[in-house]
Amino acid sequence: MKGVAGAQRPMNVVILAAGQGKRMRSDLPKVLHPLGGQPLLAHVLDTARELGAGRICVVYGHGGETVRAAIGAPEVFWVRQEPQLGTGHAVLQALPHLDPAQPTLVLYGDVPLIGTATLSRLGEVAAAGLGVLTIEMDDPAGYGRIVREDGKIRRIVEERDANDGERTITEVNTGFVMAPTQALARWLPGLGNNNAQGEYYLTDIVALAIGEGMPVATTQPDKPWEVLGVNSKVQLAELERIHQRNNALLLMEQGVTLADPERIDVRGELDCGRDVSIDVNCVFEGRVVLGDRVEVGAHCVLKNTRVGAGARIVPFSHIEEAEIGPNCIVGPYARLRPGAKLGEEVHIGSFVEVKNSTVADRSKANHLAYIGDATIGRNVNIGAGTITCNYDGANKHRTVIEDDAFIGSDTQLVAPVTVGRGATLGAGTTLTRDAPPGQLTVSRAKQVSVSNWKRPVKKK
Ligand code: UD1
Ligand code: CA
Repeated sequence: MKGVAGAQRPMNVVILAAGQGKRMRSDLPKVLHPLGGQPLLAHVLDTARELGAGRICVVYGHGGETVRAAIGAPEVFWVRQEPQLGTGHAVLQALPHLDPAQPTLVLYGDVPLIGTATLSRLGEVAAAGLGVLTIEMDDPAGYGRIVREDGKIRRIVEERDANDGERTITEVNTGFVMAPTQALARWLPGLGNNNAQGEYYLTDIVALAIGEGMPVATTQPDKPWEVLGVNSKVQLAELERIHQRNNALLLMEQGVTLADPERIDVRGELDCGRDVSIDVNCVFEGRVVLGDRVEVGAHCVLKNTRVGAGARIVPFSHIEEAEIGPNCIVGPYARLRPGAKLGEEVHIGSFVEVKNSTVADRSKANHLAYIGDATIGRNVNIGAGTITCNYDGANKHRTVIEDDAFIGSDTQLVAPVTVGRGATLGAGTTLTRDAPPGQLTVSRAKQVSVSNWKRPVKKK
C-alpha cells in the first residue's frame, strides 16, 4: 500500500540500484527479485511515477543489462555505475541526466515499500534546502547516525566511522534524501573518500549543506516498514508479508470480505466490486477483476481473469486468462486455461478443463471433461467424460456445438466437427462426422449378451 500522494511537485528521482546483493545468494540481480509478483525495482519506479517525477534516473551496475531489459521503462535514464564507489559516487553518475531547476529525490531499488505520503512530506520539509528521512531504531547497528546539536541535525556519521558516543545515537539515516540539484552538482564532485570504507558517502552532503548555511530538515516515515530494505531472502519474505497484509487491509477497506487477511496473496492488481468474498489461501496474479457479489472459494489461483457479478468460484480451481460471465459456477477442481470464455450462468464442474473455447449462456459441463478449441452454444449439456479431440498430432481443429445440444457421457468429438442445434449424442459416441440438428447420433458397437458363456477358471 502506497500512501496517498500529496500535491505533486516537479522533481528528479534517482534510484540507486547498483549494489550486488551478495546475501541473496542468487544469480538474479537483487532488484529483480519479485515482491507481490513485481520486481523490487518496479515498485520503486511506480512510486517515482506516482510522485510525478519529471525525470527518473536508475543507477545500475551488478546484473547490468539484465536489469534494464527486465524492467523496460523507456522513459527512464539508465546510468551504469562501474565500479561502485559509494552512494555519493552513485548519485554523481546520475547528475548529467537531471533537470538542474528541480530538486532531486534519492530512492533505493531495494527499498520497495516507501510510501508517497512520506515522500511528499520529505519534499515539503526539503522545500527550503535539504531534507533527510530519519527513523528511531532500538538497535541502530549498521546504520548511519544522525548527529544533532541543540536539536538540529549537523551531520551523518556512518557506523564504522562513529565514535563510541555517536554509536549510542538511535536516530538513523534511512538513506532517503531530497536536495536542490544545483547544490548536488556543487557538492558531489568534491566528496572525499577518506573514511573507514574508502567510499564516497552521499551522507556527507548534510555537513556540506550546514557549512553553506543551507537549511537542513528531517522528517520520519509514516510507518517504520516503509524504509526496510531487502538484503536477504529472509528480509524479502518479511517484506512480502507486509506487502500482502497491506493489500489485504486495502481490500477490506473497500468492502471485500476476507476469511483471513493473513491468507491471501495478490501478485498484481485485484479489482473487486461490492460484497465480494474470498476464502483462505487464494492467489491472484496479474490483473484480476471480480464483479459484485463474486465468491471465491478456498485454494483458488486466478490469473489475468475477469469474473462477472454473482459468479462463484468453488474451491481448488485454477483459472488463467479467462472470462467468466455473471452467475457462473466454476469448480471445485476446475481448470480454465487461456481463452476460456464463459457466458452467463455457465456451470463448469469438477475436473473439467476448458481452453480457448467459448461456452454460451446456461451451458453445463459438470464433470470430467476436456473442452479445447470449441465453440459451444447456449443450454448445452456436456456429459461426464466428454472430450474434444482437438489435436491431430500436428494441428488444432475446432469443435462447434450449437444451442440446446445434449452430449452424452464419454463422448469423443473428433475435430473439426459440428453438432447441430438440438442434436443429441448417445453416450460413448466417437463423433467423426457432423451430427445433424435435432437428431440422435450414436456410434457404438451393438450390445450383445452371450447366454452360454462361461467364465474361464484357473488351471491347476
Ligand atoms: C547507507 C547510508 C547509511 C544509511 C543506510 C540505510 C551512505 C554512505 N550510508 O548505508 O547512512 O543508514 O544506507 O540503509 O549512504 N549503492 C549504489 N552504488 C554504490 C553504493 C551503493 O547503487 O556505489 C546502492 C546500493 O545498491 C544500496 C544503496 O545504494 O541499494 C545503499 O548502499 P549500501 O552500501 O547498502 O549503504 P549502507 O552502507 O547500508
Ligand atoms: Ca544497506
